[in-house]
Amino acid sequence: MNWTVASDIDGTLTGDRGALDRLALRLRQSRALGDLCLILSTGRRLEQVVQGMADEGLPEPDYVMCQVGTEIYQSPLHEASEALPAWREKLLAQYSRQEARRFLTGIEGLVMQPDIFNTELKTSCFLDQCPEPETAAAEIGRRVAPYSDRYQVIWSSGRDLDILPADSGKGKAIRFLIEQEGLEDEPVVVAGDTGNDIAMFEEFERGVVVANAKPELVEQARALKDSDVYYAQQPFAGGVEEGLEHFGVLRQSTGPV
Ligand code: GLC
Repeated sequence: MNWTVASDIDGTLTGDRGALDRLALRLRQSRALGDLCLILSTGRRLEQVVQGMADEGLPEPDYVMCQVGTEIYQSPLHEASEALPAWREKLLAQYSRQEARRFLTGIEGLVMQPDIFNTELKTSCFLDQCPEPETAAAEIGRRVAPYSDRYQVIWSSGRDLDILPADSGKGKAIRFLIEQEGLEDEPVVVAGDTGNDIAMFEEFERGVVVANAKPELVEQARALKDSDVYYAQQPFAGGVEEGLEHFGVLRQSTGPV
């Protein structure tokens, strides 16, 4: 069976280098046999993913969704790879950075994220310096709600808030790619640890929540209907490996590889 595996990077694949090395080897073997399409789906910029493949042991993917599903790249990856134009253009048609920025005005303690994380399709800030981060996030959510046909709010880790085009996010980006590449018949398993990963669990039935996941993901995943979520015993890449064995993507290991 050919599987599509879409995994978040930070806190899902990274966190335990030994476990990641073991998982990466198994994923590489499956890819070499043509059994697996691997998608990395991340808040990182493309350069950080390319760097991570060199320095952090990230497995080589077939595709990468960067900046929380607002950019799609196809392997082979280079720092100067161009994001998929069809996805970019679709999202640009509904998003105004200036308008998105206005939803954030006057929130006490809000700090904008560095410019490299603020793109033409993503407006991101930190709320952890706000007197009450949850209240601030809820207020921004209320402001954006009337414009939900064009914008969405992603709240992660009690710190990061992103305003993205309504049709973007990790889940919709993967769905777009799958349709574009004609991979609809392949079963999909997603894996994650924080709030920006919930979009993948909403879009696809099978998911792996690693043991170190933030409560925001666990709670929202538990509330999903018609989904088949595996809550791993192990954290980080060990949890992803456990989940992929559970779904039969990887064969149950009988010992160290
Ligand atoms: C990553 C991105 C950041 C975003 C966060 C949550 O950390 O770098 O911009 O806010 O993910 O989606």
